[in-house]
Amino acid sequence: MMGKGLAASRRALLKGGLTATALAAGSPALGQTGPGAAATSPRRRLRLSDGWRFALGHAHDPDRDFGFGRDQRTYAKAGMRVAEAAEAEFDDAGWTEVRLPHDWAIDLPFTPSPSPPPEGEEDPRAAHGFKPLGREYPDTSVGWYRLPLTLPADLAGKRLSLEFDGAFRDVTVFLNGHIVHEHEGGYSPFRLDITDVAAVGEPNILTVRVDASLGEGWFYEGAGIYRHVWLVVTDPVHVPQWGALVRATPEGDGANAEVVVDLANETDAPADAEVRLTVLDPNGARVAEQRQTVRLDGWGKGQATAALAWPRAPLWSIETPRLHRLVAEVSVAGRPVDRYEQSFGVRTFRFDPRQGFFLNGRSMKLLGACCHQDHAGVGAAVPDRLQYWRIEQLKAMGCNAYRASHNPPTPELLDACDDLGIVVIDETRRMASDRAAMAELETLVRRDRNRPSVIAWSIGNEEQAIQGNARGARIGRTMKRLVNRLDPTRPVTAALDQSFGEGVSPVVDVLGFNYRTPLMEGYHQRVPGQPILGSETGSTVQTRGEYVRDDARHIVPAYDTEHPWWASTAEEWWTIAAERPYIAGGFIWTGFDYRGEPTPFNRWPSVASYFGAMDSCGFPKDNYWFYRAWWRPEPLVHLFPHWDWPERLGETIPVWVHANVDRVELVVNGQSMGMKDVVPNRHLEWAVPYQPGWIEARGWKDGRALPPVRRETTGAPTRLALSADRERLDADGQDVAMLAVSVLDSRGRFSPRANEQVTFEIEGPARVIGVGNGNPVSHEADRAATRLTFNGLAQAIVQTERRGGPITVTARAPGLRAATVRLRST
Ligand code: GAL
Repeated sequence: MMGKGLAASRRALLKGGLTATALAAGSPALGQTGPGAAATSPRRRLRLSDGWRFALGHAHDPDRDFGFGRDQRTYAKAGMRVAEAAEAEFDDAGWTEVRLPHDWAIDLPFTPSPSPPPEGEEDPRAAHGFKPLGREYPDTSVGWYRLPLTLPADLAGKRLSLEFDGAFRDVTVFLNGHIVHEHEGGYSPFRLDITDVAAVGEPNILTVRVDASLGEGWFYEGAGIYRHVWLVVTDPVHVPQWGALVRATPEGDGANAEVVVDLANETDAPADAEVRLTVLDPNGARVAEQRQTVRLDGWGKGQATAALAWPRAPLWSIETPRLHRLVAEVSVAGRPVDRYEQSFGVRTFRFDPRQGFFLNGRSMKLLGACCHQDHAGVGAAVPDRLQYWRIEQLKAMGCNAYRASHNPPTPELLDACDDLGIVVIDETRRMASDRAAMAELETLVRRDRNRPSVIAWSIGNEEQAIQGNARGARIGRTMKRLVNRLDPTRPVTAALDQSFGEGVSPVVDVLGFNYRTPLMEGYHQRVPGQPILGSETGSTVQTRGEYVRDDARHIVPAYDTEHPWWASTAEEWWTIAAERPYIAGGFIWTGFDYRGEPTPFNRWPSVASYFGAMDSCGFPKDNYWFYRAWWRPEPLVHLFPHWDWPERLGETIPVWVHANVDRVELVVNGQSMGMKDVVPNRHLEWAVPYQPGWIEARGWKDGRALPPVRRETTGAPTRLALSADRERLDADGQDVAMLAVSVLDSRGRFSPRANEQVTFEIEGPARVIGVGNGNPVSHEADRAATRLTFNGLAQAIVQTERRGGPITVTARAPGLRAATVRLRST
């Protein structure tokens, strides 16, 4: 489903822009344009992806940190001696060429603790996935980036700024030897004006120091400029960042919208900004328009406001996520100075304390997944197309909701949610009312409040020190006041794991329960007026393709049976939520496995989580099929485990079926093991003494037989199979294809236990940027062209170059027949 990449509307926006060479011929650094820019606009927004060089610095030794902090004079004189690496003359020939987004943690070796805790105890270093980051590792926790940036002479008189979608973390930005910005938070975007310091018509040197010595979470967070950086060029009179607000409401078949567009005049003289506001419907037709003139003082700000209405407005929904666009065209004395685009959706939603969530007036259980932001092979530096791919996998499982746990996501993830149709709980990292935390919260709301996907602002997650007390209530109220002022249209929520009813609980509009699903009924009876949802549910742990627990090898079976003490099976929480309309839904912990937090073992050698319905590559575990059966309408029968158990001859093996049909018969080597009725939201189970051969699940629905589902004892692996999610790629140096390699026997049957060393070879303008296999115990390199398959599967992420052409990828493994896919990049 939906293998179409970026949605057409966003593609049009991306394509509309100026090319890199239009900004600076010969500069290697300048990428293509992004949202907010358009062909006819004096505004240019260029992604700075290529041409960067990277080197590790040092957290407290200036000699190894390119002079940063030497003589303690870094801040003494403007633009003098801040750091050698910030100077134009600095020789970075020995630095590595990198492309953004970039996560240097991915290249660091997995590093077990020098003094591990006693057997059976958890290792605190497990949380971040055993990467050598943090105060104990000063020589791998700081990274430096340099980018030569030639700004052509025709930019004289323009305003220039840089927008970082996010970098992890504690960032110092230098331009031409000047410190131009400092920003701590690793997840929140930041912008800096560089007009004063930039040299127009000349080369510039942009330097960025990133210090990941401190973490912000209890999971893998990556390190470096792991999101995009944009150069934004505007006229002095322009719409500032996130300067358009559209609140659209359906009205009959049409819609009306309140529009507010901010304007800035960065000149001495007053200016009359002539603003034309236009609404484009999802087909690109102009459906509403309004003009006005706004007087702006010298260095002043102003706003254009309008109430627009149009007669036909296709709604944004999960099934048809139709996006409108607002275009603000600004002229001064008849000369166009800006053209700013903002996409938005027309839709309504509400949380009802008795009946749950409604989208566009229709009741809709939130079938959600919490996710962290990393993926196999690339860590936190996730290409845009991979954001889309991950949302596609979640939707294929049946999800209609996503929780960005526990931090502001990159905007491209939310683009995918807007474009593909999935609603989002958007979350800030720190629950605090100090200035920095409030600034991050404000940034989050301003950035994302036009997005139709966003349905709630989450201000905290399991803040055990404050969630149940008066201090927490005060902090929560302060945060909520800010959110309400910026966006009165969406509720504020927080995820609690105890103290339901106290502290923060009555402050929020919608209360999130992390686990403790059985407590929800009593809470609802006590507080019937407050909507509730499962902000984290499940935390069921599974290793993909494994069916016997093995603590020594850190393996947990993929039956829906294992979970930590605070959590539950999928079936336990979902039967509670499914059967109670007042529970608005639940967000499983998690959609995908992620690095770090290798629960239940939480010690070496496991380095990644076991919580995902899918593994870290997005390969489904068996619980994926449980959710898919109950979260999607199509008839489904999923049978497991595999039937390759030479070491368990005669042993009784639990055979499970996740199915949403009426009844299922299990047949083993031709013999019926009996027909069972399916009880909604529950699995079926048989006990089968193992003999090689086959097992088959025969499902029946409405009196009709479904195609039988079989697991057979396979032969020795003989060949590989290779597939790609898409064959046509964009030659933009960013687009990726997701390749899956699987191991097959001589009869083409999947080999469910094969661990084969696969090597990927590429011909043509593309490269493998990362590999993975979903094994939480694997310590193999992510950035490599080779990987062991894990239980028959491995993944390679192939990224295009900036030139097109045919691409051939071949997967080989010793003793097995190779497999090839052909892609085309244009
Ligand atoms: C929750 C927490 C998540 C994750 C999860 C594991 O307490 O909010 O981030 O740690 O537990 O079950």
